[in-house]
Amino acid sequence: MCGIVGILGEGPVAPQIVDALRRLEYRGYDSAGIATLEGGRLARRRAQGKLRNLELKLDESPLRGAIGIGHTRWATHGRPTENNAHPHANRRLAVVHNGIIENFRELRDELKAKGHGFATETDTEVVAHLVGDAIEAGRRPAEAVASALPRLKGAFALAFLFNGEKDLLIGACQGAPLAIGHGEGEMYLGSDALALAPFTDAITYLEDGDWALVRRRSVEFRRVSGELIKRQKQRSQAGALLVDRGNHRHFMAKEMHEQPEVVGRTLAHYLDMAAGEVRLPFALPKNIGKLSRLTLVACGTAYYAGLIGKYWFERFAQLAVDIDVASEFRYRDVPMQAGGLTIAVSQSGETADTLACLRHARRHGQRVLSILNVATSTMARESDIVAPTLAGPEIGVASTKAFTCQLAVLACLAMAMGRARGVLDPQREAELVSQLIAVPGLMAEALKREHAIELLARDLAKSRDVLYLGRGTSFPLALEGALKLKELSYIHAEGYAAGELKHGPIALIDEALPVIVIAPSDPVREKTASNMQEVAARGGRIILIGEAGAAQEAQVETMATIAMPDMGAEFAAIPYAVPAQLIAYHTAVFMGKDVDQPRNLAKSVTVE
Ligand code: G6P
Repeated sequence: MCGIVGILGEGPVAPQIVDALRRLEYRGYDSAGIATLEGGRLARRRAQGKLRNLELKLDESPLRGAIGIGHTRWATHGRPTENNAHPHANRRLAVVHNGIIENFRELRDELKAKGHGFATETDTEVVAHLVGDAIEAGRRPAEAVASALPRLKGAFALAFLFNGEKDLLIGACQGAPLAIGHGEGEMYLGSDALALAPFTDAITYLEDGDWALVRRRSVEFRRVSGELIKRQKQRSQAGALLVDRGNHRHFMAKEMHEQPEVVGRTLAHYLDMAAGEVRLPFALPKNIGKLSRLTLVACGTAYYAGLIGKYWFERFAQLAVDIDVASEFRYRDVPMQAGGLTIAVSQSGETADTLACLRHARRHGQRVLSILNVATSTMARESDIVAPTLAGPEIGVASTKAFTCQLAVLACLAMAMGRARGVLDPQREAELVSQLIAVPGLMAEALKREHAIELLARDLAKSRDVLYLGRGTSFPLALEGALKLKELSYIHAEGYAAGELKHGPIALIDEALPVIVIAPSDPVREKTASNMQEVAARGGRIILIGEAGAAQEAQVETMATIAMPDMGAEFAAIPYAVPAQLIAYHTAVFMGKDVDQPRNLAKSVTVE
């Protein structure tokens, strides 16, 4: 999703802006741009594609101004061309924008009728015209912004730079994040604290409906109504978080290899390993024993984590789980009882649909527990309880370590709820805890299968379609494996519950279709073995992910077997996620795809 940066500096700010935009690359984007004041006059450079293209333009024709704004755009309205790239400007101002102006058509028609000509396909351009129009009518920049903001509908963050105003940036936010960074005689604006980490760790987050007049030595916060307000400055931890690839070729590779460590760290946060008990760092709602069901909402990979969690909540806590993708849930007429519990799962804590569900649940008197990787996110601020995943910053667009950490937290929560509800006895809890403690080591072992998977990937890269099958918690994992493969390699892939094979997908089986079967040694493995035989009988090419000897036991011939270490069945989904991720990664790398930033995808999806 789009990234915003603004700097009021002492010397030329363009290189710093590009540096900060690079730290926002992880959000996903397809064009970039920058505007500064050169001798007090607005100047812009914009480019389609990656930041490198913008840098080439800046090399050819440098910007030297000491104040500027920059942007990485993830196209929503209009193609990712240079002309549609931000900043959008007129002779009065330049503006960058994250999010969507929902009523842009109405505003555009009104402005056109007044004689404004539109040069782009974007929704953002109306903001430039609206504010520009007010300045033309004689208003000061702040008054012009104040008059425009109440007219804008939707979720957005904005940053403005004004012609002739060498000591003023204005930032505004409504449903999309914006942070102000405080420096010594310099000030900054950014979509998150990570972007500003090299410059300052003193951060103020704007709240929905806030806007700020930022000058080098002062900042003034106002509400859309015009009311002057105070906002706290806080110390951000973002500077401590290293954003580099280390020795790895891609962020995704680094993040997959970090999993044993970060899953271990996350488990340590929720378990008393010595006592063999769950020990949550927060109190569960007091009425947890009386609840009969939970609601779970999430998007993308986080949704698949939730689907796996559903099995655990049902099994360990005897809680029925109503789970849906957030974009569906928010528009269903779900009866929600006051006093109930909703769990939101999100890496970024900013995903628009998940956030909308969180707010919906709270409006219905539910308590919201959010499993989040970004502690300073909007969802973190709006939840009753935050259950952190300690994965560290995840830069690769395709989620890997955040996913397995989400699973670790869901497993611990399900056990804690089981205990609180009196349905999980201490002996069973200790047994489950010992299985969980083994997970990081099993993940490290699974990572050792990387070379074999790299060889297999060369074969998979030739496929047009791939089918993933699994039962129990391996079913959502099959969905996640298929998602990873399609998002990274652009090969069509589908995940199915193995038992559903005969209800349709079996028609697809032939010698050309690789079928990846996820079959840990769990109580349903014999059922999965029967499904494998159905595939083999029709000449399908099976790739089995299972314990050594699983293929013989199932009496099937496979095209390849990824032999996993022996492990307890309950949390096998966590180590088994590793080969699923590696398959997608190596197939895409072999095909020469951009694994860290796959086409059309965004890391943090702040629009519906
Ligand atoms: C995007 C990302 C996915 C992620 C999903 C949900 O689609 O590309 O990796 O799973 O959003 O994001 P969240 O931050 O809420 O987990």
